[in-house]
Amino acid sequence: MPSQPLDPQWIGKTFDDFLFRPQKGISATRAGIPLRSRLTDRLSLELPIVSSNMDSVTGGDMAETMALEGGLGVIHRGQSIERQCDTVGTVKRSHSAVIEQPRTLPLDSTIGEARVFARRHKINGILIETAAGSGILAGVLTRRDIPWDRSLDVEKIERFMTPFSRLKTGKPDVATEEAERIMFEGRIERLPLVDDERQIRGLITRKDVRFLRERPFASKDRKGRLLAGAAVGCAGDFMERASALLAAGADCLFVDIAHGHSEVMQKGIERLRAEFPDTPLVCGNVATGAGARFMRDIGADAVKVGVGPGRGCRTRLETAAGVPQLQAIREAWCEVGGEISIMADGGVRFDKDIFLALACGADTVMLGSALSGTDEAPGRVIEDPATHTKKKIYRGMTSPEAVMESLYESNDADALEEALATPPEGQEIQVPYRGSVVSILHRIRGHLRSAVSYAGCTSLSAAREAVLQDPLKFLVPLSEAARKESYDR
Ligand code: XMP
Repeated sequence: MPSQPLDPQWIGKTFDDFLFRPQKGISATRAGIPLRSRLTDRLSLELPIVSSNMDSVTGGDMAETMALEGGLGVIHRGQSIERQCDTVGTVKRSHSAVIEQPRTLPLDSTIGEARVFARRHKINGILIETAAGSGILAGVLTRRDIPWDRSLDVEKIERFMTPFSRLKTGKPDVATEEAERIMFEGRIERLPLVDDERQIRGLITRKDVRFLRERPFASKDRKGRLLAGAAVGCAGDFMERASALLAAGADCLFVDIAHGHSEVMQKGIERLRAEFPDTPLVCGNVATGAGARFMRDIGADAVKVGVGPGRGCRTRLETAAGVPQLQAIREAWCEVGGEISIMADGGVRFDKDIFLALACGADTVMLGSALSGTDEAPGRVIEDPATHTKKKIYRGMTSPEAVMESLYESNDADALEEALATPPEGQEIQVPYRGSVVSILHRIRGHLRSAVSYAGCTSLSAAREAVLQDPLKFLVPLSEAARKESYDR
């Protein structure tokens, strides 16, 4: 495996420089072709697509939908720690198999109170605690236990509930499959989770588990909650932010700065690693093999590759810094491929670019503009009063507009000073409104499966295994005429 020298044929090359030579197809149908790929050693995605940590791309709705569709959303850091944590918490609670803080009533409540409580919170099963605030499970009262006869409303619930001694419960860290088995065998709808002191630590319901089972591709943690990523920087309040985000439930941190191959990044990762040794860290951005090696050596679990290819970027225009994206991905693979995971970030304009990125070295692909303009991306739809065409705003995170908004939000004096001293390397553009991101993700999934089939394989991982050692054997370089023939439509 790596480190390998970079074949000079990669130099200067990016997505539109190659087509993929079709191989003999061996898959009867494209429909079920698996696309699983690893985000880090411990996290993998059924759809290897990650939405950018940008304030015009990933807020709560995008992160939730990305995870439900098998990808991952990375909640941006251009906002206060509280707001970013709130969003992470919302994603983790949404569609969760485990309700972490179930609603409870104390044992001395009346049936009348339980009736009102169940209706107000729209719940079918109430956990009963021994005394208000004790957190100790005394029993469960379901709607079916509540008598129709209103004259019984003054009665205490203890008479009607199932007491702890007759309840089936699970341990706080029970796996979803085990919880499902217990509920199925006991013919019960809900499983309270309690610790050795009978303290209530959560609740699993069959309804929630079923919802997630209907979405087999969803990206979930061990407890069946949706995965959520969150971005942090390397200076200012980043340690406080990281700690708060992890407490809010973030599954991985994206340590994201413009120039990742830097001492600032090294110091940042050292501090994060020391404090949070087990947290998956996806670090970037870099654009060279040396940058990828540096990330591996300082302890990153994944390296994010891409300097300046993004639609909202002006870095290459303003500073000349950058490496054509396919070359950068290949350089990274030649240095660290198979050792740490590689995420290609930026520059994807067509779905074929995603397959090329994956076939040439990336394990996952981050998308910004390709997912912007959707209902799930933050920001309002703007309608042109004359033409009635609908648009949304997409902007680089170092565009003047994004910088000003994030400074206003974050109260970070260091960040303010740095921003005022640095001219923008990002810009704001309008993109067409495109409805729900779900249809875009379905399209990407379909096109990736077709690409795998054209590559003569039955899974993305098999295609990558076949191609990654020497992609140039499979790639057809394009002349200007061939590029026109391929892309001019
Ligand atoms: P796409 O091409 O998918 O790119 O829209 C998304 C990626 O662009 C990066 N990004 C920036 N790069 N200045 C830059 O040079 C910026 O202001 C900026 N904002 C975002 C980022 O890596 C994102 O994922």
